[in-house]
Amino acid sequence: MQIAIDGPGGAGKSTLSKKLAKTLRFVYIDTGAMYRAAGLLCLRNGIEIRQEPDKAIALTKKANIDLVIAETGQKILLNGEDVTDLIRTPEISMAASDVSAIPEVRLQLVELQRKLGQTHDVIMDGRDIGTYVLPNASIKIFLTAAPEVRAKRRLAELTEKGEVCDYDTVLADLKRRDHNDSTRAFAPLKAAEDSIVVDTSELTFEESFTHLYTIIKERL
Ligand code: DC
Repeated sequence: MQIAIDGPGGAGKSTLSKKLAKTLRFVYIDTGAMYRAAGLLCLRNGIEIRQEPDKAIALTKKANIDLVIAETGQKILLNGEDVTDLIRTPEISMAASDVSAIPEVRLQLVELQRKLGQTHDVIMDGRDIGTYVLPNASIKIFLTAAPEVRAKRRLAELTEKGEVCDYDTVLADLKRRDHNDSTRAFAPLKAAEDSIVVDTSELTFEESFTHLYTIIKERL
């Protein structure tokens, strides 16, 4: 069984998907974490991703990016190193968006995503899950919210983690990433034709969860 949850950053995909997976006893797969690991790899090696895509491709090809599924939550490994807690910074968000525009990098990571989708009951979140990675998913949800609302949520998350940032920068980064992700040529961010679009701008986390849970239960 495959459930695809796509949408822009800050729409609540990962927190909602995590809770849905726990409730439904599915495995949660965070595909963004894989692109974030590839972004971290490029930054660590001083690669200007947009200017040097060939270097980013070569480096990612040699690397081992893996997702470990555990009861306590998933871990993302980069060449065996647990980088789960290192990939949530604004800098890595942008690097992930840049590296994810490179088709060769996408194909490498999509292979791993499809493998996971075939071997587990999954709730997989990302940008192209319903349109490209798992086109036959049983349920496809496109989760969205107004940029201003998403920026506020993202700012709250970052502040809670002790990051120093301001609303205007978070909003500008988010809009830039939306633009990057939805205008790239290969597997861009967009709602699958057969997806259910859910706008969480006016909903609390609990309301969003109940809404999604009801949609999924009705269709399962
Ligand atoms: O979901 P996230 O914010 O962790 O994703 C980080 C970046 O990775 C996002 O800006 C675009 C890219 N991404 C993608 O292109 N395709 C996916 N399935 C998941 C993420």
